[in-house]
Amino acid sequence: MKGEKPRKIAVANEKGGVGKTVTVINLAAAMVEKNMRVLVVDMDPQGSASSGLGTRPENTALSTYDLIRNAKPVDAEKVVVRTPWDGLDLLPAHPDLSGADIELVNVYGRENRLKRGLKTLSGQYDIVLLDTPPSLSLLTVNVFTYADEVLVPCQTHPYAYAALSELFDTIEAVREEIQPDLSVMGILATLFDQRTRVSHRILQALREDERYAPMLMRTVIRINTTIAESADVGKPVVFYRSGSTGAQDYRALAEEITGS
Ligand SMILES: Nc1ncnc2c1ncn2[C@@H]1O[C@H](COP(=O)(O)OP(=O)(O)O)[C@@H](O)[C@H]1O
Ligand SMILES: [Mg+2]
Repeated sequence: MKGEKPRKIAVANEKGGVGKTVTVINLAAAMVEKNMRVLVVDMDPQGSASSGLGTRPENTALSTYDLIRNAKPVDAEKVVVRTPWDGLDLLPAHPDLSGADIELVNVYGRENRLKRGLKTLSGQYDIVLLDTPPSLSLLTVNVFTYADEVLVPCQTHPYAYAALSELFDTIEAVREEIQPDLSVMGILATLFDQRTRVSHRILQALREDERYAPMLMRTVIRINTTIAESADVGKPVVFYRSGSTGAQDYRALAEEITGS
């Protein structure tokens, strides 16, 4: 894939706790296992993707905030953190990102800042995976303006399912106003608990829903406590416990997405 443009995949859902960050970290790891060069871009001020990859957001000298805060962006190359895993690089977040919405409120072209900041860097990667905060802020709009595809994790829980239509309205609005080429890659059922009836019921509802069924990814991400444990130690579960169901599910997802 060298020399071609990378696939730019945003992982987004305005709800928190649905598995966005875990999906970014582990999909990235599973793709790196397939010898792809992957860049993770952390656009959530909470920095969970950064810490999940072993970087402390509050300690990073330069962050994604520096790519969007000034009229003249810093060189993205200087923001890149090499993770302990070959082929997996990170643009870390910083807590100050949370102020960007207000700081840039009167700035013309503010939704283009990330796209501009990443222009020179993207060519070095096969895949760019972007993590977003749980709100439709300027940060998410910057991610949507840069990305080509959105992957939407949906917790197999009634509230999460009900909130999907709002999210798709938002994506449609971004498409109309800013990024006509933005496509929905799919809906990813997450935090599936085989033992509970509600998990099965919601998965079934997604599979039968006229609007969502065609978008539903084949892979379902099961609940796996090892995932939470691995986030604590700052490693993707794919590398932390290679045989866990969490690792298996994210490998299956990587295969489904890349077709290899
Ligand atoms: N498949 C899973 N199995 C077990 N725990 C999970 C799984 N996916 C996510 N979690 C946990 O659920 C919480 C929310 O996940 P996270 O990816 O941070 O959601 P979001 O980024 O959407 O807010 C975290 O504590 C995470 O460790
Ligand atoms: Mg998150």
